[in-house]
Amino acid sequence: MNSPPITLHVNGESTQAEAGLHDTLLTVLRDRLQLTAAKRGCNQGVCGACTISVDGVPMRACLSLAHNCESADVKTLEGLQDSAEMRALQAAFAASGAFQCGFCTPGMLVSARALLQRNPDPDDAAIRSALSGNLCRCTGYVKIIDAVRTAARALQGEGVAS
Ligand code: FES
Ligand code: FES
Repeated sequence: MNSPPITLHVNGESTQAEAGLHDTLLTVLRDRLQLTAAKRGCNQGVCGACTISVDGVPMRACLSLAHNCESADVKTLEGLQDSAEMRALQAAFAASGAFQCGFCTPGMLVSARALLQRNPDPDDAAIRSALSGNLCRCTGYVKIIDAVRTAARALQGEGVAS
């Protein structure tokens, strides 16, 4: 039997999606709404690949029940493309070679954007702390941290990323 639809506010639009009581937000975003930037990695709250923004805060979509998010402002990477922080981060990630397989990258970008919005000039410790919930099996993190630092400088007018 199909589950009744719920209303979610995703990327600035209200949308209806079928959601069972135990369906996670990640399941609804990926499998019902075809918003696939958030990745299903561990599916148990460990890897951060599913990181999205909920009411402006990075959250793991695999740990949130969709029914609990009906009044929340949900943004996936698809809905964060227009911010200056995201544009600077994407340019810096590309310029720095901050990804290999890319599986962790959407979650990294969502976490890094939230960091730059609350702290425009983060030091390395702050960057590491902000990304501590996002695991990367490929890069060793050095280039990712470089890219976030580069994006921060670009946003401060130093013109590093383009
Ligand atoms: S898929 Fe959600 S934390 Fe790994
Ligand atoms: S680039 Fe492969 S997991 Fe991070």
